[in-house]
Amino acid sequence: MSRVINFYAGPGALPLPVMRRVQAELLDFRGLGMSVMELSHRSDAALGLIAETLGRLRRLLELDDSFELLLLQGGASLQFAMVPLNFSPPGGKVDYVDTGYWTGKAVAEARGLGRDVALAASSAPEQRRLPTQLQVRPDACYLHLCSNNTVEGTQWPVIPRVEVPLVVDMSSDILSRRIDCHTVSCLYAHAQKTLGPAGVTVVALRREVLKRIPEGLPTMLDYRPHIAHQSNYNTPPLFAIYVVCCVLDWLENDMGGLAAMEALNRRKAALLYAAIDASSLFHCPVESGSRSLMNVVFRLPEPRLEGQFIAAAAAHGLIGLAGHRSIGGCRASLYNPVTLEAVEELVAFMRRFERHLAA
Ligand SMILES: Cc1ncc(COP(=O)(O)O)c(C=O)c1O
Repeated sequence: MSRVINFYAGPGALPLPVMRRVQAELLDFRGLGMSVMELSHRSDAALGLIAETLGRLRRLLELDDSFELLLLQGGASLQFAMVPLNFSPPGGKVDYVDTGYWTGKAVAEARGLGRDVALAASSAPEQRRLPTQLQVRPDACYLHLCSNNTVEGTQWPVIPRVEVPLVVDMSSDILSRRIDCHTVSCLYAHAQKTLGPAGVTVVALRREVLKRIPEGLPTMLDYRPHIAHQSNYNTPPLFAIYVVCCVLDWLENDMGGLAAMEALNRRKAALLYAAIDASSLFHCPVESGSRSLMNVVFRLPEPRLEGQFIAAAAAHGLIGLAGHRSIGGCRASLYNPVTLEAVEELVAFMRRFERHLAA
């Protein structure tokens, strides 16, 4: 078996020890003589698995019991709709920080649902740095922002504090660094970047914002039935939840917890940014205070060279280095499972590529 080094932006790499564990447990989940995929979602084993996953998440996110924690389906994109539906009335004021592609989708969804959307700040058009000032309407139902902008390669070093309830899309950096979640009223993140496979979405909700939820929402779009049924209102994606549970176990026990994971992620990103900054071929368009630890976006002087670099890297087993199709360029995603050795290999390859071009 030969495995490539995976720098895809999402779904991204999974830890090898987790994949081996999943493989070993595939046919016989916890001695039950069947796969987790065959398990009834009403069985004690399923209830135990969901509770264990939520417990691990609560511990790692350091959430106290002022928060409800959910495992939902529909990806982060469904949260673009559930957030306005649950936390604002039709026509209600909702504020967004526009920091690129995915926040644009969130804004469009809220507008499509008839909300009065205002931008509290924007990093358009250049997306080189995150805004420093936010203009939040005091009567806005909430402010929405994205902690890490997967496409543009920007990340809030610190999540801003605001006077209105704060909603944060953490899809591409949840559990990659420590964050004080208690300044947030709602956070959500799909699993397929730092937590596991696609199919499950984590949502944390401060209990006090639940009072705002209007009656009459379709059941699946209302957070409350999911809370009342412990994330088991309808058939949950148990296999995806199981893999998330294994990834969280790996994070807590093999990697030494979130502080150690964050330290490693900082080393990985620092290594790659330093190599880019020292190069005369590659450059990073994002200013240093806004650079993402997870998605390192970089460019070469022309698209032709970028194509050449991406193809040559792929031929060397370094996969997934093309930038998002909306902006082009290059991007290396350094999610938790991407090892320091993988980043060292990438940096060594970039140096060889540059030397070869100069020769
Ligand atoms: C920050 C962010 N939010 C939302 C999404 C949309 O996620 P999904 O495909 O789970 O709907 C993505 C997808 O990559 C993302 O990076």
